[in-house]
Amino acid sequence: MNVVILAAGQGKRMCSDLPKVLHRLGGQPLLAHVLETARALNAMSAADAGKICIVYGHGGEMVRQALDAPGLVWVRQEPQLGTGHAVSQALPFLDEGMPTLVLYGDVPLIGAATLRRLLAAAGDGLGVLTAVFDDPVGYGRILRDADGRVRRIVEHRDASADERAVREINTGFMAAPTAAFRRWLPALGNDNAQREYYLTDIVGLAIGESMAVATAQPEANWEVLGVNSKPQLAELERIYQRNNAQRLMESGVTLADPERIDVRGQLDCGRDVSIDVNCVFEGHVVLGDGVEVGAHCVLKNAVIGAGSRIAPFSHLEEAEAGDNSRIGPYARLRPGTRLGADVHIGNFVEVKNSRIADGSKANHLAYLGDATIGRNVNVGAGAITCNYDGASKHRTVIEDDVFIGSDTQLVAPVTVGRGATLGAGTTLTKDAPPDKLTLTRVKQTTVPGWKRPVKKK
Ligand code: UD1
Ligand code: CA
Repeated sequence: MNVVILAAGQGKRMCSDLPKVLHRLGGQPLLAHVLETARALNAMSAADAGKICIVYGHGGEMVRQALDAPGLVWVRQEPQLGTGHAVSQALPFLDEGMPTLVLYGDVPLIGAATLRRLLAAAGDGLGVLTAVFDDPVGYGRILRDADGRVRRIVEHRDASADERAVREINTGFMAAPTAAFRRWLPALGNDNAQREYYLTDIVGLAIGESMAVATAQPEANWEVLGVNSKPQLAELERIYQRNNAQRLMESGVTLADPERIDVRGQLDCGRDVSIDVNCVFEGHVVLGDGVEVGAHCVLKNAVIGAGSRIAPFSHLEEAEAGDNSRIGPYARLRPGTRLGADVHIGNFVEVKNSRIADGSKANHLAYLGDATIGRNVNVGAGAITCNYDGASKHRTVIEDDVFIGSDTQLVAPVTVGRGATLGAGTTLTKDAPPDKLTLTRVKQTTVPGWKRPVKKK
């Protein structure tokens, strides 16, 4: 089918310079959620996948730049004269042989299953998605006749007191044959409280043609909630996160508290994964079987091998860890970190663009940048790679079975040979040979007769 996504509204109540549909929900722009649903619907009916048209307006070039992709048709609506006027902008681009579905760029949680039901209900006629709200203020009301057939949709502002008492509302989602939209939309008038061309007036036009007007309801009312303000955005974010948490738990993940996890992207978990409170997952994160993530961790585009434990307050980005790794607490793995199996990265250790092979450990207070570290290496507390000379980055190579003493500086480019030991406090500026002890150390002296200065009273 064709999908028309209305996204021209300014979103004044967001009080923001960012176009409304670019505000993020679950890490993705609102409009990206709607596009994903539109694509999912079209993928289901691949035989007659129609056009996806986005009607954009004020500040819309930014929207287009952010979300343009092959197969999308962008239609500018200027000025914005109402929802009916908005859909009519897309008419020239729609494939007549299939129905058209109207979605909204600021209603991101609408489900594909609900939309399929709306399409099925519409058949060859007009389908309107309605919902029953305890507080219908502001919405268009569905007016039915004595037989329960839809007669009209009246906007809140145009409604009488009796009409306002109706709790069945128009969600805005509609489906109809494309040819019917082409007949109806040019016939709309704007004789109403807002002087707008109302999409909702097509109900009257359909009835005038004796076309059936069917309704369908969403599986859950939150699917049809729109974002007009920051409080509404936050409300929808919670719903989205709660749904996500529910899915994770249903697939076997243990969440210490489903109200305190944020997934802003895709989180794939193996069996028996457990996640403590206040963790944030961004981009694509993969947790292998049995992984435990401690409280307050942030993982972005990370792959964690089976049996690994990430202790609290760790931050991982573009990083991979092999099986049975121990990371944190307070570890920072920056982009390009590749840890093998059984690697330990302890508190206040920062790793960037480095490979660390199986069984190696850096347990305390270290910086390992642009390093290639072999197996079973022990990096002592306070060891750092001096990888940057102010202009270029250089590599440090540490071969298998090396012992790096505490408080060592490895001035790159430099290589520590297999099995070498570096004494504590060494400033290594030349390669250290394998299997030997290398150290730079000022001789210890004791100054006889020295007295500690004392403050004069
Ligand atoms: C509309 C419906 C109302 C329904 C409500 C559900 C009409 C006339 N009214 O009212 O029955 O209960 O949605 O939320 O359709 N838009 C454009 N161009 C325009 C006008 C709007 O793209 O010229 C877009 C907006 O960005 C928004 C959507 O259409 O995403 C709805 O517009 P809005 O003005 O919020 O409609 P409502 O007055 O709330
Ligand atoms: Ca309006």
